Amino acid sequence: MSEALIDTSAVAEIPEYPMLRSGACPFAPPPEAMELGKVKPLNRVRIWDGSTPWLVTGYAEFKALMSDPKVSVDHHVEGFPDWNAGMRAIKDSRPKSLFTTDGEEHSRFRRMLTKPFTFKRVDALRPVIQQITDEHIDRILAGPKPVDLVEGLALPVPTMMISEMLGVPYGDHEFFQKHAAVNVDRFATPEQAAAGRAGLAKYLIDLINLKLDEPGEDVVSDIAERVRSGEITILEGAQLGTGVLIAGHETSANMISLGTLALLENPEQFALLRDTEDPKVVANAVEELLRYLGIIQNGQRRVAVGDIEIAGETIRAGEGLIFDLSLGNWDEKAWETPEKLDLTRPASHHLGFGFGPHQCVGQQLARVELQIVFRTLVRRIPTLRLAIPFDKVEFKHDRLAYGVYELPVTW
Ligand code: HEM
Repeated sequence: MSEALIDTSAVAEIPEYPMLRSGACPFAPPPEAMELGKVKPLNRVRIWDGSTPWLVTGYAEFKALMSDPKVSVDHHVEGFPDWNAGMRAIKDSRPKSLFTTDGEEHSRFRRMLTKPFTFKRVDALRPVIQQITDEHIDRILAGPKPVDLVEGLALPVPTMMISEMLGVPYGDHEFFQKHAAVNVDRFATPEQAAAGRAGLAKYLIDLINLKLDEPGEDVVSDIAERVRSGEITILEGAQLGTGVLIAGHETSANMISLGTLALLENPEQFALLRDTEDPKVVANAVEELLRYLGIIQNGQRRVAVGDIEIAGETIRAGEGLIFDLSLGNWDEKAWETPEKLDLTRPASHHLGFGFGPHQCVGQQLARVELQIVFRTLVRRIPTLRLAIPFDKVEFKHDRLAYGVYELPVTW
């Protein structure tokens, strides 16, 4: 066919996704995506493989579609907008889990994790989380300045907690953090993704086998028991454990470091948190930080399994959907002055933990960790400040969870 016959104008109009957040306001969602959202709450975008799924930017549309049974998380359905080539390459070797199943199958996996992460169970962990936080802050205060807050506080506290809950030895954290990092790297090659997956799967299989012989009071022992009873296979059990391990430390760690940076950049909000005696104010402050920062980036991926009419558009079965929660959290139709960090605004209906059946299992744990860490940090180091110019801070544009690589602070 002659090139002159191909109409490329339609192709050129569709913007590439993911879009980058801006250096001018690194806390804001990508400006290009916000512009799209101002025109329509759903727009076509082009992803790495050339396909053109829908990008959902509206808060109301996010909630409606995320709870629609015609929206599936099954990455084997034709048209699913895979995250990258690495994820596409390893999907056949990934056993089913709560991350990739719908309906009753999903509920079955999900029930296996609900108990340890309920509000009551997690609330009982407050003294332990407080103690771990205090120990790390003691160490920071006793050591030289400046200190990297990521290494000194943000990463170890959630990693210790999730290790404790899962029954994973904390001593192995360098190993699992290295492999987990590949899983959340946007640019992971198929080879890197396969090696990362295999490394973690083997680690979890060995651990499940160990817990079969020596069970403890932890999530992996519980998974081992289900493997023993034939409820799930050992590969499914390992996949479940791996998922929670990855989801449970990287996310909270980024929220702690990025949230601290946001508080340092908004001193009046820092002061508000420091000076309050009211746990409800602290709890709401965390909700607002979750809204404002919307750290899960590059979109939660889904595919339509039936035709859906929404906001004047028809989404056809087999079309991909990408939900960018940072955009829903800054939708002007849902939030007044969304660009303002206001720890006093009612914010608990944010989308920071997603929405619908796949909403975050670990949200109560994350909330309690964040409430304790932020509150303790601003109280114990009230003169905390950034030790480098703001424009020298390096942000994680390439990871599943947005954050900073390092946060040098002093006081
Ligand atoms: C601030 C910290 C956290 C944030 C912002 C966060 C965010 C999210 C989001 C947006 C989802 C929905 C994914 C989707 O719909 O595709 C999710 C799911 C999930 N999260 Fe979290 N998360 C955090 C902490 C944790 C922790 C501490 C755990 C540990 C237990 C955890 C475990 C999970 C699991 C297992 C799922 C999958 C649920 C399902 O598919 O049914 N998360 N998280």
